[in-house]
Amino acid sequence: MFTESSEKLSILVIHGPNLNMLGIREPGIYGSVTLEGINRLLNERAGSLPVTLSIIQSNHEGVIVDCIQDSLGKYQGILINAGAYTHTSIAIRDALSAVKIPVVEVHLSNIYKRERFRHHSYIADIAVGQISGFGANSYILGLEALHHYLSQD
Ligand code: DQA
Repeated sequence: MFTESSEKLSILVIHGPNLNMLGIREPGIYGSVTLEGINRLLNERAGSLPVTLSIIQSNHEGVIVDCIQDSLGKYQGILINAGAYTHTSIAIRDALSAVKIPVVEVHLSNIYKRERFRHHSYIADIAVGQISGFGANSYILGLEALHHYLSQD
């Protein structure tokens, strides 16, 4: 599912697996804001930057890889919370490396304060940067950081 806004810098926002469950899913870790709420906040912030967002959520690794491949020539930046695929997916990393579109990685929780298996990200070292631990605000900070980075080019 894609959500379009206006023109300017075009950024693709990718939400990975289980993020459609936000609001219900472990609110003590991920907060009570729903994915719809996060997307609303992102679109509000995008409008004032100004940036055009396309937003997709998928629970499927191959769908995320397809979206990244399809983003070539369409988007100047990618904001991604790959969820658990952050820690497992060489395929998502390779797709991001292939399209060479600047990426900012975000996480609601601080992955370094959690289980050891969450400490490694396959995306972090090919990303412009990572924002982790600020709840829904991680996305807003990530969008601002990506916009700032792209505006310097
Ligand atoms: C997450 C952290 C991941 O470890 C986890 O698998 C998620 C969400 C976060 O936003 O904090 O699904 O990416």
